[in-house]
Amino acid sequence: MSTSNPSRPSTTPTRPRCDRTAAWQALASHYEKAGQRFDLREAFARNPGRFDALGVEAPEVFADLSKNLVDAETLRLLVALARECAVEQQRDAMLRGDPVNATEGRAVLHTALRAPLGEAPFGAEVHATLDAMLDYAEVVRDTRRSAIRHIVNIGIGGSDLGPQMAVPALDAFARPELTFHFVSNVDGHDIAPVLRRLVPSETLFVIASKTFTTQETMANARAARAWFTAHGGSDIAKHFVATTTNVEAAAAFGIATTFGFRDWVGGRYSMWSAIGLPIAIAIGAAHFRALLAGAHAMDRHFAEAPLERNLPVLLGLIDIWYRNFHGFTSRSVAPYHQGLKRLPAYLQQLEMESNGKRVDLDGGDLSFGTSPVVWGEPGTNGQHAYFQMLHQGTDVIPVEFILVKTPAHDLHDLHAKLLANGLAQAQALMRGKATKEALGERPPTASAELGPETLAKHRTFPGNRPSTTLVLERLTPHSLGALVALYEHRVLTSGALWGINSFDQWGVELGKALCNDLLPRLQGQGGDLSGLDGSTAGLLRRLRAT
Ligand code: F6P
Repeated sequence: MSTSNPSRPSTTPTRPRCDRTAAWQALASHYEKAGQRFDLREAFARNPGRFDALGVEAPEVFADLSKNLVDAETLRLLVALARECAVEQQRDAMLRGDPVNATEGRAVLHTALRAPLGEAPFGAEVHATLDAMLDYAEVVRDTRRSAIRHIVNIGIGGSDLGPQMAVPALDAFARPELTFHFVSNVDGHDIAPVLRRLVPSETLFVIASKTFTTQETMANARAARAWFTAHGGSDIAKHFVATTTNVEAAAAFGIATTFGFRDWVGGRYSMWSAIGLPIAIAIGAAHFRALLAGAHAMDRHFAEAPLERNLPVLLGLIDIWYRNFHGFTSRSVAPYHQGLKRLPAYLQQLEMESNGKRVDLDGGDLSFGTSPVVWGEPGTNGQHAYFQMLHQGTDVIPVEFILVKTPAHDLHDLHAKLLANGLAQAQALMRGKATKEALGERPPTASAELGPETLAKHRTFPGNRPSTTLVLERLTPHSLGALVALYEHRVLTSGALWGINSFDQWGVELGKALCNDLLPRLQGQGGDLSGLDGSTAGLLRRLRAT
């Protein structure tokens, strides 16, 4: 990875849009001829080496891609598409620090936050902040001296979801004397029950906001400060810390200790920056450095592995195949590890805020779909909720299983059951159950009124439903870092192919502006309803305090 100066003019290559390439046309005809009729069961029967051929090793993550609706020709054409769309050049431009976030004229350098000194732009600044933040984290987690027992992170979106996902994921490495709380919503029902359990002398509030202007975070921060003083708290400098790019605003709020970062860290890519402070307090400096090192290992894989064996690239390409050729509109993520319970929410922001776009870089309307809906729950809970639809619903929804070989506990019987469930679900999605097979069964709960053919129809599973299985040896700071970086680069890959800007989020602006207009109307006694549509005016009348 290069260390060139990010302030020089962009050398970002022209980005041929995916739908204007020869490979796209070739993929369309491959889909017509073979792709739409591809059958996983036949593919395994034809090729006993399919698992080995479609197993990909990346740092800390093994991926079984063999249960996807792809053959060698599909992958060859997808890789050709990546080359034609200059994905490698776009990746290199990001890693160099070119202003690839074109609509905001910014570099995108979250990879620099986890690179060893000298291997990426802004190294000296990044490492100085990291060292200072980790020293501070160690002071806080020395609970006998600090007397801190509760950490309350107040932030939203990217200033919440990373720590909220990573702290429980790394619980086995966390300091047990500390309890972590995450307050994000501008809803008193979020912060009030947290505050009820706290005393000021044992509490540290982390006010996390890239901009330090976000309505929800500022309102919660003010509520926390008011609670702190009302309950006898006196030393705001000790009990409040800020993580932000807006150091002045944090100081104006009365916060003396601030850890900063730059505008080239996008909110949803910021858990590696000062925004990761709660993670550092939970797991300590050495483990936080391991988290960064794991992400860096995946960065190197992304930067250096040939496209044919480059895991983030392959996952991004399969996403394109499903979204744009098969027409699948969502993807379900099923982490079979309770610690990863917030990973689907984290990935929703990462993927849908990045790639939920409808115009290309030149502002041209897209004639194809972009971000799928990403959703999920940890296994096995999801099995007892929505897996019914995955197996027998009318939509095909690719599923991503995440299995961790070795648990952090010694309840081995439970863990074996967990893994067997994950494997079985992927197997069932692929195999299905033919009507003929179902005809031979008569479950005891079946109605006696029902004819065997009708019952068999209800008990038929079409199968041939695709899934990817990611396997980690253990869930550690290093492997979690690699896993999250894998997802980041996958999102970059599909965004680069679609020719969109994966690094802005203008779509959240309109609602914010309208909220600022409605708030005084809601609070005002007489209430000005002028200019509102009938529905909003009617609802506002109903909701207004009288
Ligand atoms: O939802 C929009 C957004 O800007 C996210 O991208 C960001 O992570 C979140 O709001 C929080 O912003 P901030 O960190 O500036 O408070």
